[in-house]
Amino acid sequence: MRDPYARRLERLHGAISQEGIDAFLVLSLEGSDYPNLFYLTGFRGSFGIFIADDDPLFLTDPRYTEKVRREVPELPLKEVRGRWTEPLKEELRGRGIRNIGINSRTTTLKLLEVLEEGIPGVEFVPLDGPIEKLRLTKDENEIELMGEAMEITEEGLSWALKRLSPGVAEREVALELEMWYRRNGAEDVSFELIVAFGENSSMPHYRPHPGERRLRRGDVVLFDVGVRYGGYCSDLTRTFAFGRPQAEFPEIYRAVLKANLAAIRGIRAGLSGVEADKLAREVIEEAGFGERFGHGLGHGVGIQVHEGPRLSPTSEDTLEPGMTVTVEPGIYLPGEFGVRIEDLGVVREGGLELLSRFPKDLGAVTI
Ligand code: GLY
Ligand code: MN
Ligand code: MN
Repeated sequence: MRDPYARRLERLHGAISQEGIDAFLVLSLEGSDYPNLFYLTGFRGSFGIFIADDDPLFLTDPRYTEKVRREVPELPLKEVRGRWTEPLKEELRGRGIRNIGINSRTTTLKLLEVLEEGIPGVEFVPLDGPIEKLRLTKDENEIELMGEAMEITEEGLSWALKRLSPGVAEREVALELEMWYRRNGAEDVSFELIVAFGENSSMPHYRPHPGERRLRRGDVVLFDVGVRYGGYCSDLTRTFAFGRPQAEFPEIYRAVLKANLAAIRGIRAGLSGVEADKLAREVIEEAGFGERFGHGLGHGVGIQVHEGPRLSPTSEDTLEPGMTVTVEPGIYLPGEFGVRIEDLGVVREGGLELLSRFPKDLGAVTI
């Protein structure tokens, strides 16, 4: 296989051999393990089975035969029709495989039952996300794709701001921005875009459904947006003042910005996810709003918009060079408004290198 896939497969072998296993089975049925299959092979369809051993083999059904040949030309391919357990059984038996690793994070109990009933004599050994663990740190090419995704994200956000005028509905802005993204190089949005006006901004994961809230002068406006480019995601939040919002807005905005900047300044390789979270949380607590910051500081971003590591009070992760993480403190006043400022950066030995550049001073977000 070509790089980076050969290297990833080698790393996977290294990881599973420590468990005394020398083959791993990636099963993506209707996309159930799409991110890991994409990471390991570059395949971008919903049905694929990949036997990752010294002699790798890809199995898919006729919907995807041609697509696999195009996207993963160097991998031997077997087309399956009907029940997929039969050809898989033949392959595993032919290779003399008696035990094989499977992903405990994405294999449902039902799927395990199907495997055990359909392929007796092979032990399926659940491993805790071995490919997810490889995906925690990104190579420079992955980081470049995320940088491109962020550039599109920020250009689109600038474009959307110019469309804001009193009376426009949240859903109209979200829809137009999504179309702008797709017209300007994004493959897709990386999650359902959040456009929240006024009191709706106090819900951290607000969705613009029905999104009929119309913009008024004096509203807080929160955009949480991201796109997918080359298979990789971006994630960015900015909060704006459309006119003059509630009197407390500047104080709260400044507290969130201070927390965001403190975390960005302090994050570096070697810090734990708990310590990183604390950098921002302490600032918000000192400002008296600790209770109003109800989520973690951030998360990893990559093929999925939410992946490891976690930056939160309960995280068990440690930051390593090459991890791409968000820094997104927020303060939310239910029924009033919320402020979140989210950046995305790459953890380096000496600090966090930001991929997002969108202005965030109070002056810049007053529109
Ligand atoms: N866009 C979801 C998040 O910021 O985590
Ligand atoms: Mn995020
Ligand atoms: Mn976000």
